[in-house]
Amino acid sequence: MARPRMEYRCEACGAAAPQWAGRCGACDAWNTLVERPLAAAARVLHPAGAPVPAEPAVPIGDVELGPAAARPTGIVELDRVLGGGLVPGSVTLIGGEPGVGKSTLLTQVAAAMAGEGTDVLYVSAEESREQVRRRAGRLGALAPRLWLASENELPHLLAQIDHVQPVVVIVDSIQTVHDPQLGPPPGSIVQVRECAHQLVREAKGHGLAVVLVGHVTKEGGLAGPRVLEHVVDTVLWIEGERHHALRLVRAVKHRFGSTAELGVFEMTDAGLREVADASALFLADRRPGTAGSAVMPALEGQRPLLVELQALVAKSSLAVARRSAQGVDGGRLAFLLAVLERRASVPLAAHDVFALAVGGVKVTEPGADLALALAVASSASDQPLPADLVACAEVGLGGELRQVGQTPRRLAEAARLGFRRALLPHSAPDPPAGLVSLRAGTIGDALALAGVQPAGR
Ligand code: TYD
Ligand code: MG
Repeated sequence: MARPRMEYRCEACGAAAPQWAGRCGACDAWNTLVERPLAAAARVLHPAGAPVPAEPAVPIGDVELGPAAARPTGIVELDRVLGGGLVPGSVTLIGGEPGVGKSTLLTQVAAAMAGEGTDVLYVSAEESREQVRRRAGRLGALAPRLWLASENELPHLLAQIDHVQPVVVIVDSIQTVHDPQLGPPPGSIVQVRECAHQLVREAKGHGLAVVLVGHVTKEGGLAGPRVLEHVVDTVLWIEGERHHALRLVRAVKHRFGSTAELGVFEMTDAGLREVADASALFLADRRPGTAGSAVMPALEGQRPLLVELQALVAKSSLAVARRSAQGVDGGRLAFLLAVLERRASVPLAAHDVFALAVGGVKVTEPGADLALALAVASSASDQPLPADLVACAEVGLGGELRQVGQTPRRLAEAARLGFRRALLPHSAPDPPAGLVSLRAGTIGDALALAGVQPAGR
């Protein structure tokens, strides 16, 4: 029998190469090329004879619309991000660092949907059934229509789907599922991608809503899976700091809706608790009247969030003063310190500066510039800002203030939480009823309006 034609494929990125090389030309990984028969690839090519389109093209207006079929997960904060719920025939990837709460969230989703009479199959490829059962018990998630299987091998997993005939399938995680019929070892990128492809086919073929858990690597990418992001319909990301309870869920790709929504949760002893009023949560422990604290109406996608920014400025004992940024952009902080020093005569060169966003949230948008600068200047001069003041503007190199997008939406949230004054650039729209605007053209004007006089003046 003739030897099958062979090709070389990189186990890391899946790229084909005509001959063996020590290093993959596509992803630069070393020693990842393996030889395999070309036949597997050839199978997908057209068979002989003239190809006939399975579904001939039609004028766009003639395409029939099925019912908008998103099934609510029963978890409002998640449904908000999904634009209604999980869509039958779709595949959703949920990414996040180990320990952030992916399994917890999906156990809660599974229980909520099963509780509404939907058959949900939870396939745990990482943990034993006992471990999952124990967690589900703690979460009050022992719904009779929630089916549990522990499987690593894709054929067995597909057999479980045939057995249960579920509406929703959760695979935790896709990286620990493999198909023994494929050559590469479990966990390799080719395995992850091929298994995901097969699950996508299963979802489309049977109208299943499939949810895949994906781990992130140290670098922050989904392990294996830049490739996976292309394969699935929706990619959700769970973020959160290990030492904070706050968990944010956002869509980074969504074929069925907007990627602008944000879901806010708090990790508790009883699993993830939905936080409907996130601004109130962030400001709960604020001590108004403390120097070095400023509040800004941030925007996460479409969702306004009031966030407290804090700064501490202290005389440095080091030759090069320290700058530390947590939850705010370090480069932006350095830039604002230079602007404050040069444009508003706030002496900072010989001072250590620590800045953070309270509550484990990240605020990296330029709209936080003014509040961050005010917090620094307030700490430097030991003069608190007015307790009822919010600030929202981008600061330019010349110390000039610029308006930021969606100011009205931000200010409406500030008014809702009882703030009375908004420090804004001249160009910004008028605030809603209940808020008085203080208008400044430069950072110097803003400091004066906020009652902060630079130290040493
Ligand atoms: P988990 O969902 O297992 O994370 P992932 O699947 O993303 O790796 O969550 C693990 C963390 O969450 C763990 O540190 C314990 C904590 N946790 C709670 O605080 N409360 C709970 O009710 C549960 C189930 C987990
Ligand atoms: Mg997990």
